[in-house]
Amino acid sequence: MTKKTITLTDNTNGNSTELELLEGTHGPGCISLSGLYKETGYFTYDPGYSMTGSCKSSITFINGEEGILLHRGYPIDQLAEKSSYLEVCYLLLYGALPAENEFSEFSSTIKNHTMVHENIRDFINGFRYDAHPMAMLVGTVGALSSFYHDSLDINNPKHREISAHRLIAKLPTIASYCYRHHRGLPFMYPDNNVGYVENFMQMMFAVPAQEYVHSPVAAKALEIMMILHADHEQNASTSTVRLAGSSGANPFASIAAGIASLWGPAHGGANEAVINMLEAIEQSGETIETTIARAKDKNDPFRLMGFGHRVYKNFDPRAKIIAGLCHELLADLDGDQPLFNLALELEQATLNDEYFQERKLYPNVDFYSGIILRALNIPMNMFTVMFAMARTVGWISHWMEMHNDPEYRIGRPRQIYTGHAKRDYPS
Ligand code: SDX
Repeated sequence: MTKKTITLTDNTNGNSTELELLEGTHGPGCISLSGLYKETGYFTYDPGYSMTGSCKSSITFINGEEGILLHRGYPIDQLAEKSSYLEVCYLLLYGALPAENEFSEFSSTIKNHTMVHENIRDFINGFRYDAHPMAMLVGTVGALSSFYHDSLDINNPKHREISAHRLIAKLPTIASYCYRHHRGLPFMYPDNNVGYVENFMQMMFAVPAQEYVHSPVAAKALEIMMILHADHEQNASTSTVRLAGSSGANPFASIAAGIASLWGPAHGGANEAVINMLEAIEQSGETIETTIARAKDKNDPFRLMGFGHRVYKNFDPRAKIIAGLCHELLADLDGDQPLFNLALELEQATLNDEYFQERKLYPNVDFYSGIILRALNIPMNMFTVMFAMARTVGWISHWMEMHNDPEYRIGRPRQIYTGHAKRDYPS
């Protein structure tokens, strides 16, 4: 099949260079830049990589214009309605929905790895009581590599797989320990007699003095939230995991790097920032009008948290599902209906505002998620930990895909040097 190419002409010297055009299953193709520097003497310049494809991936596809999100080809709304988080984990890791026996074996494997070394308890108890749970999570996940010397050979597919299973299994346990330490509560051991999400909620909220009563409504809401946060293509934290892993770093260190990147308020930290913003409107007398005016004011660093997206220039399909979840569940979960109503009013106000419409700024996954998490009695400083717990499967699936990619090599971007011209040290 003849290669499709594009011709680049350098108008400073009339030289032309043919570059190959690469096409995928869905979405825009890419211009292959191999040979660009050799042919033209130039690199490309793309701050924030907004126009750069960093890899070929078959895990997730996003159509930002139409607000479409597919995991291994399955639309996110169908997965949220019909699947389970653990089944989505299998799908992201292995590329297909599991047969019954495959799912049963996978579930059993994950259950057998939910416990952590007892020293992890001492490790977490070493943090101050008021340490931010994300600080504890970054440190603890990175430290996991000090416990698993038996499976750190990244060139061994079995080691890669057992590390993926350990991370998926242990993140809920570690996340609950971060919360329990913060609250001065005893750590709860995992209970393999209940489901993945139920186990997490039990480790978070059970007290040894009495039997824990599960809430199927709350568990279902959290299951859907976890599915919606499981993966999202080459976002900042996933790209961080790939870049960290591209040097050969072990999976625990690579995932810890992803957790660190997710923590930023422009990324996974936005869910906490949204609630702070809504409460500021509710409690400080700020109005929706003044909040929107601040978000539009170029002299004010404030942005409307939970709005906008590098890829979605339409509604984030996940935000739509979570908003629907709010409508369904707030009454059942005794959730904060006024805060949800305020969020709806804010969304409505932006739909009628030229600034937001011109820039195609719509609610993203973080805009409504905090309202559901609060209704589940998850404290605000745990919101990004919840995001990290759900996203771990996406991160490790991309890490695995990268190691199976024949084109994989260490990531090393270039730059435009704008510093001093060469000069001699004063004699
Ligand atoms: C996540 O990448 C992913 O997939 C991430 C994620 C995932 O699942 O992994 O989807 C999760 O991180 C969602 C995003 C959560 N962050 C927030 O809600 C923080 C608020 N949003 C913004 O910070 C911003 O929208 C970003 C960071 C999300 C996207 O930034 P971009 O793509 O760099 O957009 P930009 O800065 O180029 O903005 C374009 C214009 C600018 O105005 P002009 O200079 O053209 O006049 O839109 C404005 C921006 O000032 N703008 C906003 C705004 N977001 C963009 N103005 C007010 N409020 C906002 N939220």
